[in-house]
Amino acid sequence: MSAPTRTKPDAKPDRSSRRDPATQPAPATKADAPRRERVFSGIQPSGNIHIGNYLGAMRHFVADQDQFDNIFCIVDLHAITVPQDPAELRAATRELAAMYFAVGLDPERSNVFVQSHIAAHAELAWILGCITTLGQLNRMTQFKVKAGEERDEASAGLFTYPVLMAADILLYQADAVPVGDDQRQHVELTRDLAERFNYRFGETFKVPRPLIREVGARIMALDDPAKKMSKSGGEVSYLALTDAADVVRKKIARATTDSERTIVFDEKRPGIYNLLTIYELLGTQSRAEIEAEFAGKGYKEFKAALGDQIIAALEPIQRRYATFQADPAELDRLLAAGAERVRPIAAATLAAAKRGVGLA
Ligand code: AMP
Ligand code: TRP
Repeated sequence: MSAPTRTKPDAKPDRSSRRDPATQPAPATKADAPRRERVFSGIQPSGNIHIGNYLGAMRHFVADQDQFDNIFCIVDLHAITVPQDPAELRAATRELAAMYFAVGLDPERSNVFVQSHIAAHAELAWILGCITTLGQLNRMTQFKVKAGEERDEASAGLFTYPVLMAADILLYQADAVPVGDDQRQHVELTRDLAERFNYRFGETFKVPRPLIREVGARIMALDDPAKKMSKSGGEVSYLALTDAADVVRKKIARATTDSERTIVFDEKRPGIYNLLTIYELLGTQSRAEIEAEFAGKGYKEFKAALGDQIIAALEPIQRRYATFQADPAELDRLLAAGAERVRPIAAATLAAAKRGVGLA
């Protein structure tokens, strides 16, 4: 038996001995050329997609579609890290696909696919998990929040969730990862794992950068502006992209503000700041113009205007969403086509990683 390797898994890479990853081509596949910068991002199919997902992530996917080589994933393997009803998960997967296209992703320019349709994600996650330390995972703040008090009751999958996310990104040799601010730490871990793997086993993965826009990266819950808006919050805490007009008006009317009167962008007043940010991002006016528009007016007027603006923004999205939802066979076809286009990239990377480690 050979002696076990003494290299600590989190030994610092010696940068001087590394080749520049920028000069290292991604695995050569047809889908890979010509090379624009590639973005990869994922969203969990776990119920209502909300306006935080849209403003923090999806809106940018759409706006930057022409600039990048685009890969967007429906991360169903991540969804099952917490209990899911199987029928609901299946429905939520199609709903998210419909929403990706409804917000404006063009199936010709953006590859949209379901994570579990490409087995390489789970396989690479295992390999990466073997170079990830418990210390690294213990530092992940999202696990602490999601696991809550009952840490021992959380699944092992929830704990290793960031490793699967690293596998998602690294499989496609992504240059950049557009996400909301809550995912920053996971992308940093992805970078660390890529560097560690490359150092120990030879250049294999591109080291990706997070792409996080300053405004809108963190939309807060309507009923508690100290918490981020999330699918797991209560009904009145988030605005779903599928909410009907009267629901939007009701939720905005109830949204937490404060006892002051002025309608100005002041981060120290998180409730009104959050609502103003949503107004700013859905409209075309600058902050100064918005403040001027509502100078001397009350919260009631502002909230009515905000409600109108949200309803106007959601209307075309909801119309397209209904069209896609009415044709599940077409959605399945688009998802299958998306997976077929990106599969060779994942296969080439996984093969390189396995070779590097000494598997096969
Ligand atoms: P998730 O719904 O957790 O799968 O998140 C999908 C994407 O939406 C990720 O890029 C998140 O960072 C982003 N996101 C989720 N919640 C928010 C929020 N409240 N504000 C801004 N972005 C968010
Ligand atoms: N963890 C992300 C979230 O909850 C979803 C996700 C999974 C993701 N894999 C990804 C995001 C890869 C970007 C890239 O929001």
